[in-house]
Amino acid sequence: MNVLVVGGAGYIGSHVVRLLTKAGHETWVYDNLSRGHRQAVPTGRLIEASLTDRVRLEDTLRELRIDAVMHFAAFALVGESVEDPALYYNNNVVATLALLDAMRATNVRRMVFSSTTATYGVPERIPITEDEPQTPINPYGFSKLVIEQALQDYAKAYGLGFAALRYFNAAGATPDGDLGEDPRPESHLIPIVLQVALGQREKIAIFGEDYPTQDGTCIRDYIHVDDLGDAHIKALQQIEPGKQIKLNLGTGRGDSVREVIEACRRVTGHPIPTEIGVRRPGDPPELVADSTRAQQQLDWQPRYNSIESIIQTAWNWHRGHPHGFSE
Ligand code: UFG
Repeated sequence: MNVLVVGGAGYIGSHVVRLLTKAGHETWVYDNLSRGHRQAVPTGRLIEASLTDRVRLEDTLRELRIDAVMHFAAFALVGESVEDPALYYNNNVVATLALLDAMRATNVRRMVFSSTTATYGVPERIPITEDEPQTPINPYGFSKLVIEQALQDYAKAYGLGFAALRYFNAAGATPDGDLGEDPRPESHLIPIVLQVALGQREKIAIFGEDYPTQDGTCIRDYIHVDDLGDAHIKALQQIEPGKQIKLNLGTGRGDSVREVIEACRRVTGHPIPTEIGVRRPGDPPELVADSTRAQQQLDWQPRYNSIESIIQTAWNWHRGHPHGFSE
């Protein structure tokens, strides 16, 4: 298929571009590089433009004879969304609606959409199935839920086919260590802990140790970015105009903040000093996926089955690129 990867210069998007290309798809990246990196995109495959540039977007979809769009171009930091919701509603909602309109105008009727566990808010049941009520607790989660709703309505009214994939915590890097996570601003746990191991930070602050979990720290379901990517490629093959696919993508295994830090110590051999900080607003105590539906429907299994194996790939990347893409 001819696939346009919107936001393909970002962390998850750039990994998916590699996997799509490997799987034989013709792949182009459409990215305004506001948070992505030119170096993460294969040479000659970048269209540097904004989703709000309607003419450029429609021309791109037409000229490249795009069959499907994968949409990764979103801001995804919970805390930032609370401080500056306008950024999130404009970038994640308004720009995505422009993309959907351009797809309608050019008759592109397949989309893979990056949704999130943040649409569930504080879940009632763990592990979380797709039937859990979607009641976000921050603007980021709402911005993604609005688009899930739009996709459903567009599917019914205009015959759009889509897969909304609700990610848990994406982590890790390509095993060869030359593509990885380099977000600015940095806020994710594993890259920050590895910056301590690299000597770029003195210690890691644990945001709260009084949660109702076994060791008092938050539990997350960390899934390797290439496992996420595999699921995207399988979902893409199943999308048909009018068809709706909604799936959780996680491993079903939860690791606490303390367990992640301990695993980073084992992988890096660094003592990684910690300090206890206050809770970060908007952090649910525990988010672990039930991905049975994705496993069955996509015939998919995550291959990285331990937090250590995921951290090892992240470490290969960070050690080889201590300043990310900027060197
Ligand atoms: N944490 C720390 N110290 C840090 C950074 C993080 O203790 O310096 C903790 C957080 O409080 C949280 C855990 O580590 O408990 C994981 O935090 P991340 O920032 O790595 O990831 P989040 O779980 O906050 O974010 C992920 C996705 C978001 C999604 C969110 C849903 O990256 O896109 O889950 O809650 F919205």
